[in-house]
Amino acid sequence: MKLPAQGRAPEELFAEMHRRKEEDADWRAGRTFSLVYPAGDEVDEVLRQANELYMFENALNPLRFPSLKSMERDVVEMTGAMLHAPEAAGGCLTSGGTESILLAVKTARERARLDRGVTDPVMLAPVTAHPAFAKAAHYFGLEHVQIPIGADLRADVAAAEALIGERTAFMMGSAPNYPHGMIDPIPELAALASERGIHFHVDSCLGGFQLPFWERLGEPIPPFDFRVPGISTLSADVHKYGYCTKGASVLLHANKDVMQLRQAFIYHEWPGGIYGSLAMAGARPAAPIAAAWAVMNYLGEEGYLRLAQAVRDTTRALQKGIEAIEPLQVVGEPAMGVFAFRSTSDAVDVMAVGDGMDDRGWCLDRQHGPDALHLMISPEHAKVVETFLADLHTCVSDAGKARGVEARYS
Ligand SMILES: Cc1ncc(COP(=O)(O)O)c(C=O)c1O
Repeated sequence: MKLPAQGRAPEELFAEMHRRKEEDADWRAGRTFSLVYPAGDEVDEVLRQANELYMFENALNPLRFPSLKSMERDVVEMTGAMLHAPEAAGGCLTSGGTESILLAVKTARERARLDRGVTDPVMLAPVTAHPAFAKAAHYFGLEHVQIPIGADLRADVAAAEALIGERTAFMMGSAPNYPHGMIDPIPELAALASERGIHFHVDSCLGGFQLPFWERLGEPIPPFDFRVPGISTLSADVHKYGYCTKGASVLLHANKDVMQLRQAFIYHEWPGGIYGSLAMAGARPAAPIAAAWAVMNYLGEEGYLRLAQAVRDTTRALQKGIEAIEPLQVVGEPAMGVFAFRSTSDAVDVMAVGDGMDDRGWCLDRQHGPDALHLMISPEHAKVVETFLADLHTCVSDAGKARGVEARYS
């Protein structure tokens, strides 16, 4: 497409955009299981107004927009308090989980280089860690070494210990990880790292706004937040289970000084004046800061607890229904509403089941090791439990028939 010679009428543009959008995933109908985390019309309206109020501002210079500075500080403080950050903690808002992770790895590399003289740093991360860690190692020149997982699908602590060396600059664990929703042994990994002066990060991009409320609902959540000694940084995404529109994650530091000295970038060797920034971006959209502040204050503890209960109940109903369809099985023992399911029989290919579900308008991510279909539950999925399970049953029967086997409810 070339820039049109003459501008086009807004009605024509919006008609075309609506037409193009018809091809997109129908997440409002509850048929998409990642990427968008809908929490209902009232939350949508708050987000819409907050985004509109701050559509044009720029969060690069907090001196020009003090309202953005104060809202960012509030979001960081509220998230820190929820995750038991210590008195000396600090943090910042980033554009998403990936940017929080990039900044944590960059901080660790600087700490290892400046504090320990490590010039060829290594990053240790479980095989189940999100690809953002591999991306960070790639961008910032760390060697990426994978920690194997045990039979329980969590990082193998003994294997991690054996991999630690003089060059280890960064270690991490997920709370929980994306593929199986499992929480790594955070206290054990954090102890291994901190005893050796190694930066330890908890990736709670998925869990940061969900696990504290599952814990309050009485679910057995293993230790994962700053109550565990030895955690250097933790990422928690407001644009996932914080229910914010895209562009908002919180990176928390146990020690604010580390953030100022090892994360921040300050430059004045040019005629344009002093330039300082904590984030990767220069100009930063203001709307995600406003939307994060608005949705957190709108929902409050009561709202997040109510939504967590809806996610927990929907997750349990789906897991029970899935396991009642032979030969499907939930993978591992997921900690919250993020999980995968597999087929325990060669007679039913779970990927063929996924194709059948695609044909019925569901969007399930595929994964391997083991082959499985992936679900991430939002409050809005409560309304699709029965249709989902009925379609799944049909697709399992069809996949079985294709191989000459009749699948059935157990
Ligand atoms: C566990 C985990 N960490 C990090 C990320 C990266 O987050 P983002 O997509 O916001 O960059 C994700 C994304 O799904 C994730 O599941």
